Formats: sequence, structure tokens, C-alpha cells
Amino acid sequence: MVDILLGLQWGDEGKGKIVDVLAPEYKVVARFQGGPNAGHTLEFEGKKHVLHQIPSGIFRPDSINIIGNGVVLDPIIFKKEIEALAPYQINFSKTLFISKKTAIIIPSHRLLDAASEKAKAEAKIGSTLKGIGPAYADKVSRQGLRLGDALSPSFKDKYNKLVESHKRMLDFYRFEYDLAEAEQEFFRALEFIKGFNLIESEYLINKKLAEPGTRVLAEGAQGSLLDIDFGSYPFVTSSNTTAAGVCSGLGVSPSKINDVYGIFKAYCTRVGSGPFPTELLDETGERMRQEGREFGSTTGRPRRCGWIDLPTLKYSIMLNGVTQLVMMKVDVLNIFDEISVCTHYELPDGTITDELPYDMTDTPLKPVYVTLPGWKQSLEGITSFEDMPDALKAYTAYLERELNTPITFVSTGPDRNATLARKSGL
Ligand code: GDP
Ligand code: IMO
Ligand code: MG
Repeated sequence: MVDILLGLQWGDEGKGKIVDVLAPEYKVVARFQGGPNAGHTLEFEGKKHVLHQIPSGIFRPDSINIIGNGVVLDPIIFKKEIEALAPYQINFSKTLFISKKTAIIIPSHRLLDAASEKAKAEAKIGSTLKGIGPAYADKVSRQGLRLGDALSPSFKDKYNKLVESHKRMLDFYRFEYDLAEAEQEFFRALEFIKGFNLIESEYLINKKLAEPGTRVLAEGAQGSLLDIDFGSYPFVTSSNTTAAGVCSGLGVSPSKINDVYGIFKAYCTRVGSGPFPTELLDETGERMRQEGREFGSTTGRPRRCGWIDLPTLKYSIMLNGVTQLVMMKVDVLNIFDEISVCTHYELPDGTITDELPYDMTDTPLKPVYVTLPGWKQSLEGITSFEDMPDALKAYTAYLERELNTPITFVSTGPDRNATLARKSGL
């Protein structure tokens, strides 16, 4: 069966850490969407590592890792990621497989991303500028390049044709650029990637699923509120980040999906532009940012911070069919006397609702809060959820009741080991 682990907020919930924790239970770990806009952090044995396109099962020698067809892959970043993994002596020929149908990000996609953001000025999305939007746009408009194309003698022609169309667009934007160096790096990286297992990964994954007892973990990137259909459009990414993306992004049937782990922070962050009803632009938000080290894993940008938002979490749980919740970064709330939880929004006409309006961007949403006591103590050294402070237990139980979904893991620090299993009260 396939289990899914995905973010329920605006990304950076801690997906990489939990995939790494769960990976020993899975034969296969697979990325199904997104690309190098993702930054998934893993910490163990005093080491910290950020992965962008390579699945977070890569440090577990018994797991096979698949980069699925739904991903947009930048070969230049891939080469750098592999080189950065050199100290770990990973046998990639046994543990890493890439779909030939994976879309390729070429250097001019990154230029187009930058040109489009520049043209939007104040209305910019706050993209990671990795070329994600333009690469997915080319895929959907049926002119994109796929990794399997790189193995064909006609690749250069296809590449040149695409770059010509990009150059016309860049000229239209009056965007100045110099492609030569990046193109050289791109073609070197493309040769490099040909040395890896490029396969029809839909066959591999389905063959594995046919083996008795084999479990597959699909690793989400970004978060449900950045989904192209259901996120805070247009301030979203360009893929389906929700559970539905797993079937099309890996080539598995919906009947194979089993558990859906929904992962969220005990508060909320967002990087980039777009609506964020519980955002704290004050001292409290700044304390959260410092305490949680809320700076982007991919871009280093400061993340916007705010209290947890139940209407958005309920929405994400509904869309994904979440069966288990994983709460991250509770230790960041150690410093607060009181913790606020947004239960509803007040609309401009005074209506109170816990549903998301069609347009979160232009509808002013006033969060309605309840306040719970903080625990005001360090969680270091606590290895069992039973030994947690009462106020933290009460906070967790309250969220679980409101969200009507079991919270089965609670994370108290960045390290692999700072992950506590919890018995649901539901
Ligand atoms: P991802 O994109 O969902 O994989 O998350 P990121 O790696 O971008 O961001 C999560 C950040 O929080 C990383 O720096 C992690 O090392 C860190 N982190 C994960 N879990 C915890 C936790 O329980 N407590 C604290 N303080 N940090 C955590
Ligand atoms: P992980 O997997 C947080 C945000 C960007 C921007 C919007 C569109 O680490 O959780 P894009 O580059 O996709 O065109 O940017 O989405 N974004 C993320 N925010 N975590 C991510 O990934 C993100 N990937 C994209 O900041 O607002
Ligand atoms: Mg991240």
C-alpha cells in the first residue's frame, strides 16, 4: 500500500524530518510533485542536511528512493545535491531511481520565473525563482522536455526550439540575461544525470506494490495551502500538493492509497506573498521567528509567522483525507505564557465561519481566537509523550478534538530522535 506524508499549511512543516524518521518502515520513498523549490531538512548524529529534489529516505540504506514523473527536476541542482551527499557514501545505483517522464527545468525557465516576478512588481508571488512555474507551464502546454528525451539524439534540437520560444518571451519582458554559462553547466549536469537509473518508474513502483508487505511512502513537497487548485490562488505553487497529486505524480491507483499523514507546525508560517490571516507582525511574531529559526531552507528568506489556524487545517484535512496528524515544533512555543488558536474567521459582514472564502486574498478575514495556557518549560530530555507538561498535553488534546483527527506524533526538536509517539484520545 501507499502511505502519503504531506504538509497541511504553507510548507516547511518539517516533512523531511518525519519522512526520514518513518523511512525504515518503508521499502520505497517517492517524491510526486514539486522540484527544487522544496527544502527538506534532516538532522541526525549532529549533522544537518537539506534536500531539494532527492527524497528524504536517501539516508536509509534499505529504502529505494524514486523521483516521480510529477516532479520538475533541475539537473544542475541535482548534480550539486548528489555531490553534497558524497560524505555519506550512498550507493545511488541501488537506492535512487528517476522517472524518464520527469519534466526538466532548463536555465531559461529560471530566467522566465525571474522576469515574470519582476513584471508583477508589488503583486509578485514571492516564488523561489527555481523555474517551477515556467517548467510546469511548458509541461502542460505540451512543449516541455522530459528526462527520457535527454537520451535521444534529437534532444539538442528540441532544447533549442524551446529556448528560442523562451528567448522571445524574455525579449517581450525586456529582461536582460546571459545564458551561455548556465547552459554549459546544464549540459554537463545532464550528462551526469544519465549515469543514474532513469526508468519507467510507474512500473517499478507498481511491481514493488505487488510484492507482499511492501510499503511505499509518498513524500509531499510544499503544503496543501500552496496547491494549484485549492491553495490561496494565485499565491500558490504550480502543482497539486494535495493527496490527489500522488496518483498522477507516481502512476499509482487511488485504490492503493492507505494512510495519509498530515503534518503541521504547532503554529503557522508562510514564506512568499499571499494571505495569512493569523500572521503576527509584532514582537510575538518576531519571537516565534527567532525561536523557531524560521528562515527558508531553500532561499534563506525570513518566514512570516503567526498562531495556528484551524479553519485552514480543517480544509487541508478534508482535501487530503488525513488519517493521522503529526504536530511539529512544539518546543518553539515553550517561551509563551499563553498560546492563541484561531478557531474561526469573522467576515466583513460580521458572519463567523470556519470555512475558507473563495477569495482569501481580497476578503479581509479577522481571526477569532481562543487562548490556552503555555507550559513555559524546556522539553529537552523528555522522551515519552506521557511525561510532557500538562499544558502541552491539553493543547494537543484540544487541537485533536477540534480537528477530529488523531495526533499520533509530536516533534520537540530538529533531530531524528526528538520525535514522540502519542496515543490518540479520540
Ligand atoms: P520541510 O520543507 O517541511 O521539510 O521543512 P523545512 O526543513 O523547510 O523546515 C523545517 C525546519 O524546522 C527545519 O529547519 C528543521 O530542522 C526544523 N525542525 C523540524 N522539526 C522541528 C521541531 O520539532 N522543533 C524545532 N525547533 N525545529 C524543527
Ligand atoms: P517545502 O517542500 C515553503 C512558496 C514560495 C512562493 C510560492 C510559489 O520546503 O515545504 P514557486 O517557487 O513554487 O513558484 O513559489 O510557494 N514555496 C514554498 N514555501 N516551502 C516550500 O517547499 C515551498 N515551495 C514553494 O515561497 O510563495
Ligand atoms: Mg522546506
